[in-house]
Amino acid sequence: MKFLISKQFLMPKTTKHKEGNDDLMDKIVSLCKRRGFIFPGSEIYGGLAGIYDYGPVGVELKRNIKDEWRWEMFRLHEHIYEVDSSILMQKKVWEASGHTSAGFTDPLQECKQCHHRFRADHLAEEGVKQCPDCGGQLTEPKKFNLLVETHLGPVQDESSLTYLRGETTQGIYVNYVNVKTAMRASLPFGIGQVGKAFRNEITPGHFIYRLREFEQMEQQYFVQPDDAPKYFQYWREERMRWYLELGINKDNLRFRPHEKGELAHYAKAAEDIEYKFPFGWHEIEGIHNRGDWDLSRHSQFSGQDLSEADPKTGKKFYPYIIETSAGADRLALAFLIDAYTEIAGGRTTTTKSIKEVEVVLKLDKRLAPFKIAVLPLSKKEQLITMAQEIAVSLRGHWMVDYDETQSIGKRYRRQDEIGTPYCVTVDFASLADKAATVRDRDTMGQERVAIDKLQNYFQERLNNN
Ligand code: GAP
Repeated sequence: MKFLISKQFLMPKTTKHKEGNDDLMDKIVSLCKRRGFIFPGSEIYGGLAGIYDYGPVGVELKRNIKDEWRWEMFRLHEHIYEVDSSILMQKKVWEASGHTSAGFTDPLQECKQCHHRFRADHLAEEGVKQCPDCGGQLTEPKKFNLLVETHLGPVQDESSLTYLRGETTQGIYVNYVNVKTAMRASLPFGIGQVGKAFRNEITPGHFIYRLREFEQMEQQYFVQPDDAPKYFQYWREERMRWYLELGINKDNLRFRPHEKGELAHYAKAAEDIEYKFPFGWHEIEGIHNRGDWDLSRHSQFSGQDLSEADPKTGKKFYPYIIETSAGADRLALAFLIDAYTEIAGGRTTTTKSIKEVEVVLKLDKRLAPFKIAVLPLSKKEQLITMAQEIAVSLRGHWMVDYDETQSIGKRYRRQDEIGTPYCVTVDFASLADKAATVRDRDTMGQERVAIDKLQNYFQERLNNN
């Protein structure tokens, strides 16, 4: 339904659904529920559109994605500083940013009967005068605000109205001077943060692709105006490299420059990094040259001078901003889809389940929720004691799962489905030779490793990425 898509999510070059791809999304959604990655929000009350909760396994995956991003930004790059700003800010912040005054989306028309909303320019383009869904009468075009409203304090009136932040970016701009002064930073330097954002999306959907509550990982790089094109190129390449290094298949990634009419009100240039989802090519990250829009607007609205002085001429200017803006949930979905591998006929030889399709989540080891699973072959007390001791010794270093339920084949399959790179199995021979079998998720190779050498063994394989 083309009309239902708001401008930020207008993807003109979407791929047609390939046969079997809807099926793939169903499998991912089902895997996420079954294995504890992601659950529908408020599920026991029938769910809440555009809201999802992360389960024990999903929390680890998303945390690893955010940690990798943090590692890249704040450790591997010099002079990029992290903040954790509030979700609630003064209402004026959103006036300055243009989210309330210019509208956070394009004009929409609403059907008076079914209340579906449509992009007004799309309706005009197609010459559509009545609701494309039910034929009902449409309202005049109106700008709908995507910000989620709330009230702070005991009285609910205009003076207490504010918004849950619609992007984490604005919390960075309001702290620009604080960070610059505290860190004695000079251009070029960056400020980034990871945190929740909220949008009253008109059409949430595609599982965790478009949510009403989501997490962003945004970085703003402040530069001299003349340097902006150079850093725009730099960040676009850096961000693509990050995805490739974390194992996303290069055929499933592409850049899509924004066309002139599509640029956001603040942007001088913008390119999306798109992932080839089962439902088409869609944005996972935006790289924007925001020009001097943000600091000049916040200077104007706050009365604080956020400009810089040229060290040679003394002339005042507002730094330009190169923004990299990714969504942790969208990335989690892209990483899950990219890692999802089905093995027809199965590969486990230890149980009868060998004839079924087996699923392996070939996540990069850094992203895998659990790095190691420790599995006693049977529930014999001696094996359990030994396995638990191994789990305890490894836990201080890595996320370790311990599982003694069901057959060993089923337990291997569960670990494959959640992407655990290594399983350590303690069997009867372990009691005598003080060694365990380490099974590799991807190759299915098995190695006998002395228990007192396990830590070194995993150190080499998990900490050397
Ligand atoms: N500060 C710029 C900004 O917020 P955006 O293109 O609206 O730009 C940036 O959002 C990223 O945030 C997107 O590429 C996407 O990964 C994520 N994002 C935006 N809206 C989202 C939503 N409704 N659900 C999930 N992720 C979203």
